[in-house]
Amino acid sequence: MPSKIAVLTSGGDAPGMNAAIRAVVRAALARGWEAVGVRHGFAGLIAGDLVPLQARDVGGVLQLGGTFLRSARCREFRDEQGQLTALDRLAGAGIDGLVVIGGNGSQTGAYALATRGFPVAGVASTIDNDLFGSEITIGVDTALNIALEAIDRLKVTASSHKRAFLVEVMGRDCGYLALMAGIAGGAEAIVLPEVEVDPHQLADELRGAYGRGKAHAIVVVAEGAKYNAEGLARFFKEESPGFDLRVTRLGHVQRGGTPGAFDRLLATRLGAAAVDHLARGDQGVLVGLRRQGHRHPPRRSGRPQEAPRSRAVRAGADPGAVEAPAQVAGTLRQVAGTLPQQVAGTLPRGRFAPSPTGPMHVGGARTALAAWLSVRSRNGVLVWRVEDLDPPRVVPGMAEAHRRDLAWLGLDWDEGPDLSEGGGPHAPYLQSQRGPLYEAALARLAAAGRLFPCRVSRKDLQTLATAPHGALHDMGEIPYPATLRPPASDIEPGWLENLLHAGTTEAAVRFQVEEKTVVFQDRIQGEIAERVDRSVGDFVLRRRDGLWAYQLAVVVDDLAMGIDDVVRGADLLASTARQIQLIEALGGTVPAYAHVPLLVNARGEKLSKRDAGLAVATLRDAGIAPERVVGYLAFSLGLLAEPAACRPQDLLPLFTWTRIGKEAWILPEDLTAALRRMT
Ligand code: F6P
Repeated sequence: MPSKIAVLTSGGDAPGMNAAIRAVVRAALARGWEAVGVRHGFAGLIAGDLVPLQARDVGGVLQLGGTFLRSARCREFRDEQGQLTALDRLAGAGIDGLVVIGGNGSQTGAYALATRGFPVAGVASTIDNDLFGSEITIGVDTALNIALEAIDRLKVTASSHKRAFLVEVMGRDCGYLALMAGIAGGAEAIVLPEVEVDPHQLADELRGAYGRGKAHAIVVVAEGAKYNAEGLARFFKEESPGFDLRVTRLGHVQRGGTPGAFDRLLATRLGAAAVDHLARGDQGVLVGLRRQGHRHPPRRSGRPQEAPRSRAVRAGADPGAVEAPAQVAGTLRQVAGTLPQQVAGTLPRGRFAPSPTGPMHVGGARTALAAWLSVRSRNGVLVWRVEDLDPPRVVPGMAEAHRRDLAWLGLDWDEGPDLSEGGGPHAPYLQSQRGPLYEAALARLAAAGRLFPCRVSRKDLQTLATAPHGALHDMGEIPYPATLRPPASDIEPGWLENLLHAGTTEAAVRFQVEEKTVVFQDRIQGEIAERVDRSVGDFVLRRRDGLWAYQLAVVVDDLAMGIDDVVRGADLLASTARQIQLIEALGGTVPAYAHVPLLVNARGEKLSKRDAGLAVATLRDAGIAPERVVGYLAFSLGLLAEPAACRPQDLLPLFTWTRIGKEAWILPEDLTAALRRMT
């Protein structure tokens, strides 16, 4: 939990920002924390322009427009250097939490700090009302009322002169302000960025109004529309609408008002809620207003969530929703994801990839929890992939059982076979349906001369291994020596196609490993070095019976799905060097690895199907709360000093790889009883 937080306002100011600062400061002080104001937004953060704030420093600001901390648009903060300097400033001042009050650009900046591990909460504030997830943002209501008042006044003078007025309102690319001001102001027409407008038709409508005897006509135009006030005025110069025409651009007048009751209340709620979220350790959330019953269908599995909202106007959003609770409107990642300037590829992508060959036991759940924490603590993306490559071993219904177990534990994912629209951009998420990708990878490796057909049987290899001839003799596994590779002259052109498509099963496909030491850093196990040519030798990518080897499928899928964060059980450590050779041969980037030590049963054995009492579903059926399982697993990982019930998100602030022990964890004889005893 933080003890000293900073607050800043950034981007275009909005009426109500002062009320939000006040709420943040007073909520922080009420928790016994210190509060610091950052002047001039992110620019001030980089410059270290910090000011301590006490309760009295935020007295008398509630009713003031603008932001007494000042605001800025800061280019420098878009660069890594700017962000690192900002983090240094925060660390130097002993600040361990930040609230960013602002719109899209500001929340994208907040997100950049969150991805670097700094606890940040965003407060949705912009007069544009174009922020992901929040029904209405701080400042909109006041800006709308100012626009409305201007429209009312313009109507008066328009009637006196029988004129038409084009009234341009702000909102950048979003037509919310224009639409609402137009409806509430009784405009003749409303021109929005989201709707294609034919100016000829508009001219006809104005002429019609004139013909019906109207004394005035108001057209509310959004500044971001294709035909904004300037464009329409130019058009009407050539084609008269039948009215004498004037143009009024409201511009920044809309931003400078005294915040109305709605914005003061909203800002107070959201500011206080942001502090609550920092206290709870919720990483990278955006706090906004969401009315109950007005949510989009859930997208992510495991927890309900809004789909990214478009910038189109949502005519249903009404400012009267002041009674609605302040809620997490989404994550800063989602805000960034809705922006065109999102930096592609900067979000970590991790995965859970269980094989549906048996029930998920607590060991699998522990690894899944670590994978979830690794990615979610950096606001990254999680993929659930079903590794069902070996049909005889796949248990029908088991993938669905795993889905239930993961969701029950409170883990969620962004892509996976259970989600709508095929599960995500890298569908299918079942390995049994990804054969064409594996074939394509083999074709590339064959073209690079890295594959050969292998007719040597396991029995032949065993004979070789037991023969007294050096290196092979000492190996636990049976390494396939380079000496057994067929000479290139013996490999027929087209051998791979024949094998793949002619249904021939007389040969396996092996990968020629390089004679070198593979070195990689594991985030738990440290540096690992391995000579694959000696430990394993050339390994199989496609078995003689036509089944794809795990080593190939996992590498091809991780590359295709952009996975750069691999967290899995320590039993797969021995596969990693092999996979790295394969990744390099395919021209891919090696991901970051963390091999989580295994859980073993009370007899010190690896968990297996025989340990039915240690399956997640068994614990659930025994009435154990998921929080107890999560808390126990977190304790076993080294994230909690004592086993204590908690949710996965409670662990986000505690998560760091340095806490995770390297040793296997021995489970008690009776885990259910141990979980029941927990607090
Ligand atoms: O994003 C708020 C906003 O007021 C927009 O409606 C407008 O397009 C923009 O800011 C104006 O930016 P600036 O104040 O930097 O001119």
